[in-house]
Amino acid sequence: MWLSEEQSADKGVEAEHLRRLFGVFSATHGHGRSLVYEALSRGVTGNDELLALLMRTPRDQGRPSLLFAAVNSILAAHPDAALASYYPIHGGRRPVDHQLIPTFAAFCAEHGDELGHLLRTGSTQTNEIRRCAALRLALGHVSERWGEPVALAEVGASAGLNLLLDRYRYRIGGREMTPAADSPVVISCDLRGGTSADRLHRPLPKITSRLGIDMRPVSLSDPVDRAWLEAFIWPEDVDGLATLRGAMELAVSTGVPPVVRGDAAADTARLLADLPGSEPIVVFTASLLSYLGARSRAAFLNRLDEIAQRRPVAWAFAEAPGLVAATNVAVPALQGPLAKRNTLYLVGVSLRGHGRQDDGLLALADPYLRWLAPARQPADDFQWLPAEPNAG
Ligand SMILES: C[S@@+](CC[C@H](N)C(=O)[O-])C[C@H]1O[C@@H](n2cnc3c(N)ncnc32)[C@H](O)[C@@H]1O
Repeated sequence: MWLSEEQSADKGVEAEHLRRLFGVFSATHGHGRSLVYEALSRGVTGNDELLALLMRTPRDQGRPSLLFAAVNSILAAHPDAALASYYPIHGGRRPVDHQLIPTFAAFCAEHGDELGHLLRTGSTQTNEIRRCAALRLALGHVSERWGEPVALAEVGASAGLNLLLDRYRYRIGGREMTPAADSPVVISCDLRGGTSADRLHRPLPKITSRLGIDMRPVSLSDPVDRAWLEAFIWPEDVDGLATLRGAMELAVSTGVPPVVRGDAAADTARLLADLPGSEPIVVFTASLLSYLGARSRAAFLNRLDEIAQRRPVAWAFAEAPGLVAATNVAVPALQGPLAKRNTLYLVGVSLRGHGRQDDGLLALADPYLRWLAPARQPADDFQWLPAEPNAG
């Protein structure tokens, strides 16, 4: 097929865009977290077949996380494929070597139709329940300031597994804590920085009602939805897969709070208005802001302010610092270098109610909450926490 000069130039720009996207993913998300994804995302940047596959995909769907999840979900049905030997979650033990990229490319070619369909129609769907450690920290802060009980909502709740935070066991910094000490699901999170983590160990406030809101809620009774969630677990994260499966089983057997379809900016106020009572609402978001454009982010926070005119609202977040800095959260540290540490997540709470706003930072953490470093004070800039080699 002949391409006009203009078409060739467009393709060149698109290929360059993809190379940059996958290069950044390799250096930030992959490096230090997944050797397989680090190598694969670097490999994509130099593989014409894979770049061509992504160029046939709508632009905003050609994301590394979506490509890898789509391949992973197909691989789950083909555990004997050569590619599975690199994925510990599929029983593989082969270390990353020079055959990984060609094996990956061959698998993609073999399953091209299915992969193309998943790339066109899929959306990023994770439910990382280790983030309950961040929510726990935030709830401790809210109950310290406002007492209990509270109502709990999560926007971008996925399957709603974070709303069940009191049904899990916690091992924080190697120390077990209650409640739900007999839960089959254990959330482990390391501590860094030597700061006190006492707030994490406080009993949770009484939670009167729970609601999840998500643009595309995940139904735990649907095996396809469950498999798609599992597909976002990274190849080496055998524990993460077991934890997710355990949490899904627990939720199905004991009941999960409602997760209703809705857009963060357009529907939050209307949906939260239906929550009974007048106690404060803790609205949790984890890894949501990056899915919202600047306008939607501002609209979402405006909606929270509207609700706060009727009853107190605490926005509890585990999000990239740069995105929090672009909101109206007013912590001086966000004007400094903290806002550039976007390979980590900032955990904090913005208390809005009683005619005032009171913002505090609680921790800097790995985005998947494998570790967190509690803040030394609510306006902490975390300059004392050294950059990780992979933190860029
Ligand atoms: C990366 S997942 C995080 C899920 C969950 N918060 C967690 O930490 O495991 C992001 C979630 O946000 C949802 N989402 C994306 N855009 C949204 C929007 N505009 N309004 C509501 N939810 C949205 C997605 O469907 C997805 O479930």
